[in-house]
Amino acid sequence: MLSAEGVELFYGETQAIRHAEMLLRRGEIAAITGQSGSGKSSLLYCLAGVVPVADGEVRFQGRVLGRMDDQDLCALRREHFGFVFQYGELLPELTVDENAALPLRLLGHRKGPALAEAREVLGRLGLGKFGRRRPSQLSGGQCQRVAVARALVHKPTVVFADEPTGSLDSGNASAVLHEFLTLARSMGTAVVLVTHDRHVASRADSLYEMCDGVLVPRAREAV
Ligand SMILES: Nc1ncnc2c1ncn2[C@@H]1O[C@H](COP(=O)(O)OP(=O)(O)O)[C@@H](O)[C@H]1O
Ligand SMILES: [Mg+2]
Repeated sequence: MLSAEGVELFYGETQAIRHAEMLLRRGEIAAITGQSGSGKSSLLYCLAGVVPVADGEVRFQGRVLGRMDDQDLCALRREHFGFVFQYGELLPELTVDENAALPLRLLGHRKGPALAEAREVLGRLGLGKFGRRRPSQLSGGQCQRVAVARALVHKPTVVFADEPTGSLDSGNASAVLHEFLTLARSMGTAVVLVTHDRHVASRADSLYEMCDGVLVPRAREAV
């Protein structure tokens, strides 16, 4: 469904990704661990078609992202991809409902049905009562749940999550990650998850470690 074949990425002289090979199947959850600066975020940018690769190919459902024009790539990302970042990146001027509904609105859905969908997903994350609040009126863990709802609301094919709970305390982080993966699984959405949480990584179908720009597949027993 999504694959990287011989992907290389440079920032000027610095090589961030060295010949990355990855295959993500429909509904598969892949976890990537690795030290800071090893290239995890860069790999997600390559897989999501956010940065053009220097060499190699990223393929999504048979289409090579590097051969698509910006408009098609943008449309593909809106429909098929969801994103969760380390700091929720919620829009402070929108309500919780409106934040979670954003991907549907960008896809052209009308406001009423989009908000109803958003409330449904928020409800599944225990935030059913918080829809009318602003992000500033929520805790850090609640904000990340809203970010998870936003990433999944349009039932994307893949969600890219870059240390989605890196800003939370460890207890809260584990709870949010588990809820996120449970919801993604129930929807059949594939996930590429960058995380330091080895316990959560053990729930993934496949594991990788990023070491100085090299993506190394890991056996589950090694975690
Ligand atoms: N925009 C950029 N310009 C130049 N170098 C960058 C940029 N982004 C990341 N890098 C470098 O690329 C390497 C990988 O970074 P990154 O993908 O952010 O790693 P990680 O997410 O594992 O912390 C690091 O050496 C980092 O300094
Ligand atoms: Mg990073």
